[in-house]
Amino acid sequence: MIKPHGANQLKPLYVEDDSARAALLSEAEKLPSVVVSSAAATNAVMLGGGYFTPLEGYMNVADAVSVAETMHTSAGLFWPVPIMNLLESDENLKVGERIALRDPNVEGNPVLAVMHVEAIETLNDTQRDSIIDKVYGTQDEAHPGVAAFKAQGNVAVSGPIKVLNFSYFTTDFPGTFRTAVQIREEMSKLGWEKIVAFQTRNPMHRAHEELCRMAMQDLDADGCLVHMLLGKLKPGDIPADVRDASIRKMVELYFEPNTVLVTGYGFDMLYAGPREAVLHAVFRQNCGCTHLIVGRDHAGVGDYYGAFDAQEIFDAQVPDDALLIDIYRADHTAYSKKLDKVVMMKDAPDHSKEDFVLLSGTAVREMLGKGIAPPPEFSRPEVAQILMDYYQSL
Ligand code: ADX
Repeated sequence: MIKPHGANQLKPLYVEDDSARAALLSEAEKLPSVVVSSAAATNAVMLGGGYFTPLEGYMNVADAVSVAETMHTSAGLFWPVPIMNLLESDENLKVGERIALRDPNVEGNPVLAVMHVEAIETLNDTQRDSIIDKVYGTQDEAHPGVAAFKAQGNVAVSGPIKVLNFSYFTTDFPGTFRTAVQIREEMSKLGWEKIVAFQTRNPMHRAHEELCRMAMQDLDADGCLVHMLLGKLKPGDIPADVRDASIRKMVELYFEPNTVLVTGYGFDMLYAGPREAVLHAVFRQNCGCTHLIVGRDHAGVGDYYGAFDAQEIFDAQVPDDALLIDIYRADHTAYSKKLDKVVMMKDAPDHSKEDFVLLSGTAVREMLGKGIAPPPEFSRPEVAQILMDYYQSL
């Protein structure tokens, strides 16, 4: 299987050994502790699961700024997005001590991880603006990722961590949440070597289903990892449990058994378009995938990014030897009435817009809310039913 990023083996920061974990947990109760931001908590979940191999913890300011500006840490590791623990105040923490990080997303704020504090620094306005500009491409607080970043404090507490649980992801999504370690194990059991990953934060309609099929066929892949985001989304996005149910139904009914693995990861959506696409590639490499599908407006929101910026960044800014995983580029994909099948628009140059079944997200939501199923060319009826049930329950 393809090697992890920057290491020969995955480096999950979760403490696997039961007695070592229990000892750390009881020790953690006596350590100084802080409730971290949701972003920092889901960074810990990703670090715990090996997704962020080879990182050992949270970045200091120099690394975060360097990653934002050059996509490399100060030590030269390729990395596309700062992985930080930003607090609103220093909470009287001291450099050199060990602290417990408490989970903001679970009732009672249980300990999520233990950290060795290497640095406590203030992120100044110039550094903060530079990170936001480079990662999100805008300072606009109407951008949900920018708003979430700015809502964190400016005290960067950095250092290595040991992760003690996977937050609410194991309890809320037991059948779907998987670590990178588990995904590699499952794919290895299936005997998969060439694997296409499909990133998603939405239910999968016909275009998404066919994209997975096209990629598998074009690449002669052994399987497809459908890998959905299970963390926080902006208001209006479809909750993970509904999305999970609809994706599972689609895979069960429309794919050959053992060709698609439906799983999820515990991370809040950044909506950082191109930069997030590169992060997606890094952690799918860590899962053992050889390819990542990057289509139209990947990880985008509103009109902040060009439709194919998330593909272009791989040509313009990712050095050839930075990653082992390759990108499978998808053009705008839709059902062609002329050809009676889903196609990439670039493969149907004689078509006009009217030749495709195109529906905006808003139009689809309106239909589903009224109990009207989108046409079968757009949505599988069984998927539409699950989504209609959800919208009508609101
Ligand atoms: S994402 O924010 O998680 O990327 P989404 O779940 O909507 O969003 O998309 C998953 C993947 O499918 C992304 O790679 C996206 O670019 C791609 N995609 C979604 N819709 C289309 C489409 N109609 N044509 C081509 N690619 C698409």
